[in-house]
This record gives sequence, structure tokens and C-alpha cells, in this order.
Amino acid sequence: MGTSLRKIVFPTAGMGTRFLPATKATPKEMLTIVDKPLIQYGVEEALAAGMGEIVMVTGRGKRSIEDHFDISAELEANLHAAGKSALYKTVSRVARMADVAYIRQKQPLGLGHAVLCAAPWVGDECFGVSLADELILSEGKTAMQQLRDVHEQTGASVIGLASVPDNEVSRYGIVKARDENGLLRLEDMIEKPSVDEAPSNLAMIGRYIFTPRLFELLKTTNPGAGGEIQLTDAMCQLAKEEPVYGVVIEGQRFDAGNPYGFLLANATLGLQHPKHGESLRAALKSLL
Ligand code: G1P
Repeated sequence: MGTSLRKIVFPTAGMGTRFLPATKATPKEMLTIVDKPLIQYGVEEALAAGMGEIVMVTGRGKRSIEDHFDISAELEANLHAAGKSALYKTVSRVARMADVAYIRQKQPLGLGHAVLCAAPWVGDECFGVSLADELILSEGKTAMQQLRDVHEQTGASVIGLASVPDNEVSRYGIVKARDENGLLRLEDMIEKPSVDEAPSNLAMIGRYIFTPRLFELLKTTNPGAGGEIQLTDAMCQLAKEEPVYGVVIEGQRFDAGNPYGFLLANATLGLQHPKHGESLRAALKSLL
């Protein structure tokens, strides 16, 4: 069953409280891993999965995200005139890689509410959602493409998952799943449960594909954990009405919206960097 999935929503209005003071005036999505902001990794992943119509749900203080994907005429002219062609290409490519629309979430009412803000833009189509502070590096298919494959097979909503240790379950939405002809059918999900309440160790890691029915359910979702309108609560309803599948994502995942995950992502990609990797390895060795 092929689908024409093209649209993807990036909720970027969060306050980044796990990473203060860095995120006081800088969106967490603009934190850089080596030399690229997190949001650019997310957009590149979406584009590689054929999802080229992008909307970012932003909030106050998030203007630098818009600037990043916009044409910077002065910078481009200067780099061109100075003969810095590699940098010129890098900068102009970012501005032209995707058509990005922006919608403002006026109040921080939760992830579910942020996604609902994109409803008029998405319309009556299936769509992706990606949380850019979760950085997922894959050798083969990108995380979004792995979700897309199952969506094309089923036409259903599909959620990206990873197994997390007991001491981390209370940080994530956790799912209850059962096998259905080789697919993981999700029966229930709980937002940030205690380890005793958690039905499994399978966490949702910020990659989703939804049918448009999700929007109807979000409209009537009451505030849940933390007083916020939770995406997880609407998904729970969705899973009661229609099939929702999970995919355990193959790839290396970093929860880069907190300092430890961010440092690990920088160390990992830094060590792989063609120009700086070798000297970084030597420098780190001498520190250890
Ligand atoms: C959000 C979701 C949660 C998910 C997590 C992934 O939580 O609400 O279900 O597991 O992202 O990072 P947040 O990190 O915004 O608290």
C-alpha cells in the first residue's frame, strides 16, 4: 500500500528547561552537534525519507530557527566574493534544502497542543512528527524512512521506539506492545510512568507518523502529565480506534536535549569528523 506522505511537523516551541542556561536565549533545536544545529539533522532526515513539506511550530525566542533556513543574502554575497566556495555552498544549501512554513504556538500548553497547531496546515492527510532534540544516526535507512516503510505497508500510524534502561523509563512515553504478524501493534502508552507503572522498557523516541484522525482526538484531549496536553494521551485513544504500530529504530540515538546526550553526540560525531576526528581522539586520550 503506497502512500504520498509528504508533510512533517517539527514541534520547536519547547522551553528547553533540561538545558538551561544554554537554552535561555537559544532554542534547544539550534544547539550544534559539531558544526550543524540539531534541527538541520532533523530536516535532512525528513528530506531523505521524502518528507519535503515541513512546518515548524515555534514560540517566542525561536527566530534563529527561521533565520537558519532562510537566505542570508549578505553572507552569501560575502562568501562568494571572498572565493570561499565550499562555505558558500554549505550556507546556500541550507537555505534552499526545503520549503519550511512556521506556525506560532502562543502558549506552552504541551507537545499535543503544539502538534494540533499544525492541523490547518496538514489538512486531511497522514503526516510525520519529529522531535529534533532526539538525534538518530543510521548507517542504512534513516529513522523516518524506517517508519515510512511500515506506514506504506499498513497505511496506519507508526511510532519510533527504543529500549531504555529501568532508570530512564520515567523520562519518556512508554508503550505496551504485542506481536501482530511480525509487526509490533501498540495497545497502550503512558507518558513518563514510574518504573512500576511502566508496561515495558520500550520508549517513544520522537519519531511518529499519524493518520489525520489524531487531530480530532487532540482537540478533546484534556491536560495530562505536568498539566500539559500530551501527544501520548491522544495516541492512546488513537490506538483504541485504529491500528498503531511501533518500530524499534535501528541506529544510534542521542537524547541531545540534555547536556549528557548532547556531549555524547558531539564526542561521537566529533571523533568521526574527517578533519578534526584524529586530533580530537589524540586530545581526548591525553585527557583520560
Ligand atoms: C516528549 C514526549 C515523550 C517522548 C519524548 C522523546 O517528551 O512527550 O513521550 O518519549 O519526547 O524524547 P519531552 O522530552 O518533551 O519531555
